[in-house]
Amino acid sequence: MLGNTFGRVFQVTTCGESYGWSAKEGEQSYGGALFCIVNGVPPGIKLDVAKIQVELDKRRPGQSKLDSPRKETDRVEIVSGLFESVTTGAPVGLLIRNVDTKDVHIDQYRQVKEVIRPGHAEVNFFYKYGEHADWCGAGRASGRETVGRVAGGAVAKQILSREGVEILAHVIESNGIKGRSISEGTMTFEQMKPNYRTNDLNCCDTEAAPKMIDDLLKVADAGDTAGGTIEIIARGVPAGLGEPVFDKLKATIAHGLCSIGAMTGLQFGAGFAASSTLGSEWNDQPFLQDGKVRFRTNRCGGFLGGMSNGEDLVMSMSVKPTPTLSKDQDTVDMLAMKEKKLVAITRRDITICPRIYPVAEAMVAIAVTDALFMAHGWYGLAHLDAKWTSLTAARNKGEYTV
Ligand SMILES: Cc1cc2nc3c(=O)[nH]c(=O)nc-3n(C[C@H](O)[C@H](O)[C@H](O)COP(=O)(O)O)c2cc1C
Repeated sequence: MLGNTFGRVFQVTTCGESYGWSAKEGEQSYGGALFCIVNGVPPGIKLDVAKIQVELDKRRPGQSKLDSPRKETDRVEIVSGLFESVTTGAPVGLLIRNVDTKDVHIDQYRQVKEVIRPGHAEVNFFYKYGEHADWCGAGRASGRETVGRVAGGAVAKQILSREGVEILAHVIESNGIKGRSISEGTMTFEQMKPNYRTNDLNCCDTEAAPKMIDDLLKVADAGDTAGGTIEIIARGVPAGLGEPVFDKLKATIAHGLCSIGAMTGLQFGAGFAASSTLGSEWNDQPFLQDGKVRFRTNRCGGFLGGMSNGEDLVMSMSVKPTPTLSKDQDTVDMLAMKEKKLVAITRRDITICPRIYPVAEAMVAIAVTDALFMAHGWYGLAHLDAKWTSLTAARNKGEYTV
């Protein structure tokens, strides 16, 4: 399997499956682990394991009626790259074991191992890996794969917090019920932040959140699942990050976000509204504040020429309804090549939204950290006149110098 590393200079590599197959002293058993290697962590950082755990806990299943009832502890062990709690500059290795891998659930997957789950990735795993495709809990296509991303993103977040960058995401729509959002200009970051993670869905519109949750519980009772939209904000990102052509920051963030399972669409700033807006209404008007260029509005979502412009980066991402249903569905047996019924499967998320937002935060954190590494390399060699580098202000951060 190729493509398990994200990032060009600051790199996160992950491995591990939903269940996994671990070898234990001669015998073999289920209960593997997720593993993440982070390359490029600067030396001398006092990595806060508790903060990495907070990020993993945001994503952990079994926390509310909206999540899969799978009971994983998701405890992180840092197994390399640290000495006396401080990073040495060597690769940081993070291990998270699968603990809820009971025979009853493995048998449930064994009974349907030849069939493809509608909406899930199995069909392409048969095409790519034949009879060796991992049939237990979707293997690398499981939502569990994202544990490694969140662990790597949590390391990136600690590097970013030293640079004054903060990344938060929240749910702005669930099953057609809309909440207020920064992309639509109906909420500000200051209004969003105090309500971050104050309800099971992590919807920061406190009026819309209970309506969304009531609706989702009805969806669950009917054996069904629901889709939604999340919004991600990165504040404090300095201007000028990203390269002007193929490696736009916008493009690398899109790469990170589009690589997450179950995402179906991506918007930057007010994005799709551009199709019904005049240029005179669309353009964000620049002005000077304390000698720095700022913009009165942020319809472009903080990207101009694909590079950051110093304003908040704002992305929104639609998320499909969870493919696994507690309802029978039509399918195909890939070995017998016969049509059949897939019976209801019980363990699944009613909505992926409250599970996916920490993954999205992680992917944006890794992409921004990588872009910062590239920028420091560039500015270190370009020797630009200080008049230009001192102009690259980041929102709320003041001056950014490299
Ligand atoms: C955090 C997270 C949790 C997920 N939970 C489930 C789940 O419980 N059941 C399920 O069928 N799919 C779940 N998925 C979605 C599948 O992983 C995804 O739909 C599948 O890999 C197919 O990929 P695609 O949707 O990008 O085509 C989850 C995804 C994420 C990111």
